Amino acid sequence: MAILVTGGLGYIGSHTVVELLNNGYEVVIIDDLSNSEKFILKNIEEITGKKPVFYPFDLKRRELLTQVFDAHQIEGCINFAAYKAVGESQEKPVDYYENNLFSLIHILQEFKTRNISNFIFSSSCTVYGQADQMPIDENTPLKTPESVYGKTKQMGEEILKDFANAHKRKISLLRYFNPIGAHPSAKLGELPIGVPSNLVPYVMQTAAGIREKLNIWGNDYDTEDGTPIRDYIYVVDIAKAHVAALKKLMNDPSGEAVIDIYNLGTGKGSSVLDVVKAFEAANHVEVPYQICERREGDITVAYANADKAEKELGWRSETSLEEALRTVWEWQKYLDTKNH
Ligand code: WQD
Repeated sequence: MAILVTGGLGYIGSHTVVELLNNGYEVVIIDDLSNSEKFILKNIEEITGKKPVFYPFDLKRRELLTQVFDAHQIEGCINFAAYKAVGESQEKPVDYYENNLFSLIHILQEFKTRNISNFIFSSSCTVYGQADQMPIDENTPLKTPESVYGKTKQMGEEILKDFANAHKRKISLLRYFNPIGAHPSAKLGELPIGVPSNLVPYVMQTAAGIREKLNIWGNDYDTEDGTPIRDYIYVVDIAKAHVAALKKLMNDPSGEAVIDIYNLGTGKGSSVLDVVKAFEAANHVEVPYQICERREGDITVAYANADKAEKELGWRSETSLEEALRTVWEWQKYLDTKNH
């Protein structure tokens, strides 16, 4: 029996594969390497001493996916595979809808015909848009996300709810806030391909001298220091939440539809300047920056109420911002050795 992890060589996917292997699960990875690199597979093996099965397949090709389901007894899926660059999604909407939704639908077709349950979906706090009050809990009304990327996440959730209800299957929607950090081994981390759009990889590359200066997109927001606030959560804590969510689904004997929804955040908000200062303090480096115009589509504030995951999964994020940012710098030093 195995767990299918799509996008399993990606940032959060690879950290989750490590936690699954460390918890004794068999893992089958499908990853088209559009946003990852093959050396991540070797590093997973080095960290865990185990060798997950890997298929370099594009999930949009249904016939390849069928081959994987024919070859392995899949008992659950964690679906990370998706394009995730918010800005790019505005320029290539059809590619984002095709990739993010067709991949999901192809897996669900296999789940439907083979009577498989236990599906965990990588969702995002972006489905809340700019919530009216903080902290954000799972009952907070959803708003239409500004970005096509965010819309694919919200549509993915709706597709999965309909699938679970129609076929009495068990699903878990995990809404990440802002994932940051790297594995303690420094062998896994966020692999920025091209110019990073997310804050922490850009801070990392600025400190390393790869980027000249960090552009801070606006300091005229309605926050204490004028820069937007987010809930930055350590990637290994997010990975552990996936194992806890999977265990809950697999242990549910009800035979009824199960639709779990959890916010994965720390419950603490940090501004852009908080992150810059924490990175400098944690790693004794400088991060030169300049204040620029706001980035279109950015919201002012978002941080989680993560009590539901603690109550129902026995999970809570336990890593501080500074600790997470220290792992980022170790990861950059590892990448330097690989001339990345
Ligand atoms: C955080 C803050 C920027 C870069 C998005 C998605 C979310 C998830 C994470 C995929 C904002 C500021 C950033 C920079 C800056 N998606 N910033 N200079 O936009 O909160 O969330 O990425 O995993 O679903 O919505 O994350 O890291 O891009 O930005 O000033 O060079 O940092 O304005 O306030 P975001 P982010």
